[in-house]
Amino acid sequence: MKRCIYPGTFDPFTNGHLDVLQRAAQLFTHVRVAVAIDSTKKALFTPEQRVALIRANLRGLPNVDVVSFEGLLVEFARQQKSHAIIRGLRALSDFEFEFNMALMNRHLEPEIETIFVMPNESYSYTSSSLVKQIAKLGGDVRKFVPGNVARALRKTYATK
Ligand code: COA
Repeated sequence: MKRCIYPGTFDPFTNGHLDVLQRAAQLFTHVRVAVAIDSTKKALFTPEQRVALIRANLRGLPNVDVVSFEGLLVEFARQQKSHAIIRGLRALSDFEFEFNMALMNRHLEPEIETIFVMPNESYSYTSSSLVKQIAKLGGDVRKFVPGNVARALRKTYATK
């Protein structure tokens, strides 16, 4: 039984995140998507909304579930008896940040391996903040995020 955690802020979850998740679900017996609660970051969606938006996209992924977590990622991974942390690498520009984070996490918890998964290259320029910027200005984001996320973005910005 090999379990992994796929952590992120997911504000919001994109098609690129979904692509990484689908690949991870083929490699591991169980994948737990872990939505980070970071009180220092101003997120558009609450942790509960982010969890619900991801959960609605798990059709065909019976070995995946979604929870939120607060505090140190490696501590959470240890509590969950997880063997690995999955991170997506979209482009070379992601590498430096991810490399530092992976080495720091290894230092904190040598037993937990970070595994990088490359999403399809068509997602290499998709990011949560760009998607939010486009949606805020009334642009169409349906190509970049699942349908429920596009609707939630439209609704949220309509009332802001
Ligand atoms: N497709 C599309 N976008 C992707 C992506 C993919 N496959 N992979 C990453 N991204 C983008 C996101 O859209 C987001 O873009 P943005 O910055 O423009 O909004 C960005 O990359 C990163 O977001 P996300 O994937 O949600 O993860 P994150 O980098 O915010 O997650 C944590 C960071 C939560 C894993 C990290 O902060 C953490 O571990 N926190 C817990 C505290 C801790 O342990 N700290 C010590 C770490 S050493």
